[in-house]
Amino acid sequence: MHPILARAQELKDSTVGWRRDLHKHPELGFQEVRTAAMVASELQRLGYRVQQGVGKTGVVGTLKGKKPGPCILLRFDMDALPIQEDTGAEYASITSGVMHACGHDGHVAVGLTVANLLVEQVDSIQGTIKLVFQPAEEGLGGAAAMINDGVLQNPRPNAALGLHLWNGEPVGWAAITAGPFMASADIFNVKISGKGGHGALPQNTADPLLAGAMVVNALQSVVSRNVSPLQSAVISVTQFQGGTSFNIIPDEVALSGTVRTFETELHELVLQRMRAVIEGVSASLGCQAKIEVIELTPAVVNAVEVVEAVQMAAFSIEPGIVLDSTHRSTASEDMSLFLQAVPGCFFFVGSGQKDPAKRFGHHHPKFDIDEDALPLAAAIMTQAALSMLEKLTGEQ
Ligand code: NI
Repeated sequence: MHPILARAQELKDSTVGWRRDLHKHPELGFQEVRTAAMVASELQRLGYRVQQGVGKTGVVGTLKGKKPGPCILLRFDMDALPIQEDTGAEYASITSGVMHACGHDGHVAVGLTVANLLVEQVDSIQGTIKLVFQPAEEGLGGAAAMINDGVLQNPRPNAALGLHLWNGEPVGWAAITAGPFMASADIFNVKISGKGGHGALPQNTADPLLAGAMVVNALQSVVSRNVSPLQSAVISVTQFQGGTSFNIIPDEVALSGTVRTFETELHELVLQRMRAVIEGVSASLGCQAKIEVIELTPAVVNAVEVVEAVQMAAFSIEPGIVLDSTHRSTASEDMSLFLQAVPGCFFFVGSGQKDPAKRFGHHHPKFDIDEDALPLAAAIMTQAALSMLEKLTGEQ
């Protein structure tokens, strides 16, 4: 067994202890006060230089090697979700309506384990390691807040790594993909206004509800007719509100949803076609549409040279690993903001229960991970950071 994996296995009790403690005490985005205090105290114990309050509740731990050299940023997210837990686990959330249903409790535990593993290598490290414990990943802007607070300066990282435990696959699987890996995420809000009136006298109205229904249908033509079958995009209408009574045609209806794409050009094409369809269909029925698009996060795009180093690290830690180098997900991640600024790699480590019947997806009330994933994830991350430092030192 690789010595770093062997050491991660020795630390497993602590790793699982941190993870279960965090799971029991989940905190929503920008409220990770208890979590941040736990992270800061462990990093201080290990001798890291610790900065707290970076991006409100974020924590940064810096470790300088014995010799100067490049800087690697490792990012772990900390926030929970507004979900009522239904796992029945002994370490289930004691906070009503809040749950670690995405595995970020595991990410923090992996991050603290990596912090321990790296300290033990400090004599051989040339350069600086920056451990970034990020708040508010779940659509609340935690990465942007940390970047605004200067997490990418003093020193500026030369590469960035991040990981997500992934319940879609069991322990022993990893996805480390070059190029676009996770999709961009936009929110769209549409208001369609017409002319309301009596439900029995539709000839005197311009019915926004009918226009809205046709818009929902017609939007599905964008992906099927405008996007190449060899590329991918998602348009999902997830909210449709309008009307107050069975005999009243309303003045206005509202639609909302999300758009996911992997490439900038396609992103622009999809938004342009959506506007044309929404406005055109509404106008053809005597209604007007107002469209608002909120660009939440860009796509996660991995740099080839960093991906190669992480893939090699995964194989050296676990030669039997099932490596998927083409996997992509239409979910989104604000790790993308770090990767826009710094070349890097965000990857998935399988954490699904061995029994597929007990495997629940991310953001589900019964979501839970196979904790065997934790030492493996920590060892791969540690080895990847050390190899990247070595690679960059060679290039300097
Ligand atoms: Ni997540």
